[in-house]
Amino acid sequence: MDSEIVTVELDANNSVKIHPFGATVISWICKGQEKLFVSSLSKMDGSKAVRGGIPVVFPNFGPWANGSQHGFARISWWTVAETSKQESNGCASIELHLKDNETTRTMWNHGFLLKYKVGIAKNELTTELSITNTGTDEFDFTTLLHTYLKVPDISTTTVTGFDGCLYHDKVAGVDNLKEERKEIVISQNVDAVYKNAGNVGGHLISTPVGNMRIEKHNLPDTVLWNPWSEKAMAMSDFDNEGYKRMICVEAGFVSERKLLSPNEVFTCSQKLISCGSAAI
Ligand code: BG6
Repeated sequence: MDSEIVTVELDANNSVKIHPFGATVISWICKGQEKLFVSSLSKMDGSKAVRGGIPVVFPNFGPWANGSQHGFARISWWTVAETSKQESNGCASIELHLKDNETTRTMWNHGFLLKYKVGIAKNELTTELSITNTGTDEFDFTTLLHTYLKVPDISTTTVTGFDGCLYHDKVAGVDNLKEERKEIVISQNVDAVYKNAGNVGGHLISTPVGNMRIEKHNLPDTVLWNPWSEKAMAMSDFDNEGYKRMICVEAGFVSERKLLSPNEVFTCSQKLISCGSAAI
């Protein structure tokens, strides 16, 4: 329900909103400006994953034999574990949890605990996911932070951090292509899974009004996605023209499956840093 959305505020111009459905970050206001794209047609009532913001993908990226695409984390209700604000170091955060339950067990019969911490500081949004195997058998998974960034115009947006990487072009259905471009401009439907991308210096998303940097930890791969016109129109929850104002740069552990033993913990995170004078 909309009423369950939680706001964490650093000050009047810096805040973040989290929907407990999927622990989805649905808004990040930084210096008074919204940085994330959320489709105006997105469901917000828990009937479908939020179309925008930062959905959490777990335990499977992409089509999944056991359940719906991208797994159950983004379509489960999470519990708010704690919120905190530290005036002294100028940051505020919230932590949400999801553990195995009857519904997840019907799809994936494993014991787990997900802890997701969302923190803001001036110019920064950090999202950190920790995955604990609380069961007695090992399991494997893929995971990803499906970040939808808001941009003023996709035709004047560039993104870096992919040159030299091997990638799977999901639109063409071709694997192991090598990216040569230092700066990518999206001008068509793009759906590409880059291996070991942006691990030195992150990804820089530049627009005429400012820039955003994405730094990643334990998320070696990055998916670049924009559905473009035809696919956007085919999606019931995507604004027809919305593809012009967004870019998905998705930090993930997706090219290989991560194996986790009982009691083992895997932690990964990303930091979005808004930089430049009128940063996006
Ligand atoms: C991307 C995938 O991560 O998510 C795409 O690479 C997919 O293939 C896109 O279309 C959106 O997925 P969904 O399930 O939210 O429509």
